[in-house]
Amino acid sequence: MLTQTDQLIHGDCTQVLPTLPSESIDLVVTDPPYFVRYKDRSGRSIANDDDPGSVLGAFHDLYRILKPDTFCISFYGWNSIAAFFAAWQQAGFRAVGHIVWYKGYTSRRGFLNARHEQAYVLAKGRPAKPMHPIDDVQPWEYSGNLVHPTEKAVSVLKPVIQSFSCAGDVTLDPFAGSGSTLVAAALSGRHYLGIELDAKYVDHARRRLAGVERARTSGLI
Ligand SMILES: C[S@@+](CC[C@H](N)C(=O)[O-])C[C@H]1O[C@@H](n2cnc3c(N)ncnc32)[C@H](O)[C@@H]1O
Repeated sequence: MLTQTDQLIHGDCTQVLPTLPSESIDLVVTDPPYFVRYKDRSGRSIANDDDPGSVLGAFHDLYRILKPDTFCISFYGWNSIAAFFAAWQQAGFRAVGHIVWYKGYTSRRGFLNARHEQAYVLAKGRPAKPMHPIDDVQPWEYSGNLVHPTEKAVSVLKPVIQSFSCAGDVTLDPFAGSGSTLVAAALSGRHYLGIELDAKYVDHARRRLAGVERARTSGLI
C-alpha cells in the first residue's frame, strides 16, 4: 500500500506513523521539539517541548518507514543530546555526519552567546554517499519566525534535501510546524509528506504549500 504524498496530515505523529507502510519513504528531514520549554518574547511555545515521551518514540517508526539504505536528518537540542542519541540508536540509526549552521547573530545569551543550530545525519543501513556532498558547516538564515516561533528558513533546508535525495523522491517531516521542510522539498522537485499536531500551523503550512502549487501551475517555478 502506498501513502498519498504531497499532503500534510493534522495529527500526532506517534499515532500517525505506525499507520504508514514500511520502506515507503526516501528521506526524513525533521526538526522535533528540543525539550527546552521554549518560550519566545511574545510567550509562544512548542507543543511537547517538555515531554520527550511524546516525541522520541517517533524515531522507531521513522526507521521502519524509511526505505533500506537511506537517511534521516534530525535537528536536535544540544542540551538533550543524550535522550535524542539513545532514541536514534534504539531505533537502529547510525550517525554518519553532523551539520552545524552558523548564525551571524546571537539568538540567546547564557554561558555562551548562542550562534548555531545543529542536526545529525543518521543512516538506515548503508546508503551511498551523496553525489554532491554539502559542507558540514552551513550558513544560517533567520526565517523571521513570523507565524511559528522556531521556523526554519527554506534556504537552510533545501541544500540538505537536494544532497540527500533525488528528484521525485518522497521527503517526510513528522514535526512539520509551519511546513518549511515540505516547501523546500516541493521547490526541489521532491514529493513530501508532513505531520503536525498544532492546527494553526497545519493551516498555515497548507496555505504555503498551495502557494507553491499555484506558482508551479502558473509556470513561475
Ligand atoms: C521545532 S518545531 C518545527 C518547526 C518547523 N521546522 C518549521 O520550520 O516551522 C516542532 C513542531 O513539532 C510539533 N509537534 C510536537 N509534538 C508533535 C507530535 N507528537 N506529532 C506531530 N507534531 C508534533 C509542534 O507543534 C511544532 O510545530
